[in-house]
Amino acid sequence: MWPRRDKFPPGPYGGLKGWSFRALNESPLEMFTELARYGDIVGIRVVNLRNIFVNHPDLIEEVLIGHPRRYVKGRVLRANRHVFGEGLLTSEGNFWLRQRRLVQPAFHRAQIDAYAEIMVQYAQRMLEGWRSGEERDVHQEMMRLTLEIVVKTLFGADVARDAQDVGNSLALLLELGANFRRTLFVPHWMPTPTNLRIKREIAFIESILYRIIGERRAAGRDTGDLLSMLLHVQDEDGSRMTDKQLRDETITLFLAGHETTASSLSWTWWLLARNPAVEAKLHAELDEVLLGRPPALEDLARLPYTGNVVTESLRLYPPAWGLARVAVENHEIAGYPVKKGMGIAMAQWVVHRDTRWFEAPEEFRPERWEGDLLKRIPRFAYFPFGGGPRQCIGNSFALMETTLILATVAQKYRLRPVPDHPVVPLASITLRPRYGVRVMLELRERSAPKSLSQAIRPTTQAMTAD
Ligand code: HEM
Repeated sequence: MWPRRDKFPPGPYGGLKGWSFRALNESPLEMFTELARYGDIVGIRVVNLRNIFVNHPDLIEEVLIGHPRRYVKGRVLRANRHVFGEGLLTSEGNFWLRQRRLVQPAFHRAQIDAYAEIMVQYAQRMLEGWRSGEERDVHQEMMRLTLEIVVKTLFGADVARDAQDVGNSLALLLELGANFRRTLFVPHWMPTPTNLRIKREIAFIESILYRIIGERRAAGRDTGDLLSMLLHVQDEDGSRMTDKQLRDETITLFLAGHETTASSLSWTWWLLARNPAVEAKLHAELDEVLLGRPPALEDLARLPYTGNVVTESLRLYPPAWGLARVAVENHEIAGYPVKKGMGIAMAQWVVHRDTRWFEAPEEFRPERWEGDLLKRIPRFAYFPFGGGPRQCIGNSFALMETTLILATVAQKYRLRPVPDHPVVPLASITLRPRYGVRVMLELRERSAPKSLSQAIRPTTQAMTAD
């Protein structure tokens, strides 16, 4: 039986207390962690906004899979519709469903697999610019790399020159979006200095996107990238996407498709640097399986520990650290009355650290995923990509990209943390390192092969081939 509460609980988050908004704005992770102590379902009121915080996997499943039509996306995302328009992340109802069906083929396994080579190539190109002994902000490096990859896979090579400009504008929009108070309470049409800045950045991004779309329409060629697919795909009635729809979908994929993976990789580098035993096991697997050659798609199945490092990093530092919905009808969750207009919050950050599902949850232990842990815990005890109809469309893309980049870089370099550089999470729309992750690059030796037969195999094959 879930703890039932007939009214919002007393305590710091219960009433009209200004500082509770400060908590949401300044330390949302701590706020949600503390709220979970009240129970698996907790009411909170922030100024005049009523919310239910749901903290049990079965209840999260009820919201995301059981009755998804009872909800629309949360207030923060909805307040950002002037940025994302009617793109997949923010649209609703039949329009969203139609778009999801149109975009989905671009994310089918076979399509995604074709991108593996690009991902590895671009990671290798990044490494060509790295030197042992150098200090770098690896978060900046990952942002640039994942942006280049999403641009190449989305738009093809011809727009690489615009990528950095668009990336900078998106980064600024994300930074401004981190202020929940402004996002929720200052309408985007009000001519405040911040809103005017946001408007300018959006106009800039749009000018680039519309130019690319126009050029592509005029050329009429299928260039095999995502934009080509979106341009050519037809609905059942034969209609195609308008320029505005293409603008909304591409800006959404642009943002959703690089910031999250970059953050996930940055957290992974930081976790590895702090856990030398895990790092050593990762290096041993990469050396043993890859024997010094770059990773390829087929290697993914042969790199289980590397995969578990990614899974475990997404548990501790989920780039989508919380999901939000707004109820569109009165109903109950586990006997708790939910009124139309109330917000529902679910936090991966909290559930992924719950001792009921994860032993020693604060520890970075990729080994915990061995032996099918996923099958032994409730479906929504681990949900970095959400779930139900609104589950992340880029799930496989992201897992493949993070694993391949991790393998390519870790094969060559060990990243040592720079002492005294603070690595702290900033929970805005996504969870990223507030001050980046400064590291010292250290070229590494390949670890000694496990057995002589493994070490000589490539040479023998080469001789046979000759
Ligand atoms: C580690 C990387 C990623 C994480 C953790 C992540 C997480 C998520 C989550 C949790 C959602 C669901 C949001 C909700 O239910 O409110 C989502 C939706 C979405 N993601 Fe991702 N994502 C990642 C990478 C990507 C990539 C690489 C792409 C595209 C190339 C992408 C595109 C999208 C889109 C378009 C949606 C909206 C889907 C819909 O509502 O139909 N994501 N993502």
